[in-house]
Amino acid sequence: MNNQVFERKWSDYYQAVEGRPPRETLLMALEKFEEPQFAVDLGCGDGRDTVELLKRGWRVLGIDGEAEAIARLRSRPYIDFNRLETRVMRFQDLVLPKSVDLINASFCLPFCPPEHFSDLWNKIVSALQVGGRFCGQFFGDRDSWATYPNMSHHTRSQVEELLQPFTVEVLQEEQHPGTTALGEQKYWHIFHIVACKKSINSNHDI
Ligand SMILES: C[S@@+](CC[C@H](N)C(=O)[O-])C[C@H]1O[C@@H](n2cnc3c(N)ncnc32)[C@H](O)[C@@H]1O
Repeated sequence: MNNQVFERKWSDYYQAVEGRPPRETLLMALEKFEEPQFAVDLGCGDGRDTVELLKRGWRVLGIDGEAEAIARLRSRPYIDFNRLETRVMRFQDLVLPKSVDLINASFCLPFCPPEHFSDLWNKIVSALQVGGRFCGQFFGDRDSWATYPNMSHHTRSQVEELLQPFTVEVLQEEQHPGTTALGEQKYWHIFHIVACKKSINSNHDI
């Protein structure tokens, strides 16, 4: 068992991914909305997804634990500050607004320490309105980083359990050897998700 904790210099990551396009899970989720609404971009980094949302007319709250991420996002060109709010906030202390239409969490939830994950996930589910969507990624149990005790990884059945309050629109499982944005070798095991929140009374098993 690896007791080493996962540490990342996020500054190097932001530098490495500068200018990259929005994530596919966000694009797939956006196709399902008829008009721009209100989104939270959780773990937004330097804003590759936030800028896409703004371009398409959405109001966005961008949240990240790193002040540098938010500073980089706010200094991007063509940001409409009438429709963007930002907060430097860690998942462990997260406060979300009510009645959110879309919560986008691209490649960030696995970095939540496991002892805070279920609280974080409950906050995400509660903040979404019925018919609102979650999109983003979970990392699987076969991912190289699953041995880090400060990261949150999930088996497929745990992912399906987390998605119980949703109608699952996309659930793609990806696994293969590869490299990170910083060029490190790593085995990727990722679940890509788009899911629509069900009403409490709906029961699709009957
Ligand atoms: C891999 S980056 C993803 C950034 C962006 N969403 C993207 O798709 O490129 C993960 C982001 O999660 C943020 N993050 C990591 N741990 C966090 C925590 N405990 N609370 C809040 N944000 C965190 C990092 O600062 C980083 O910006």
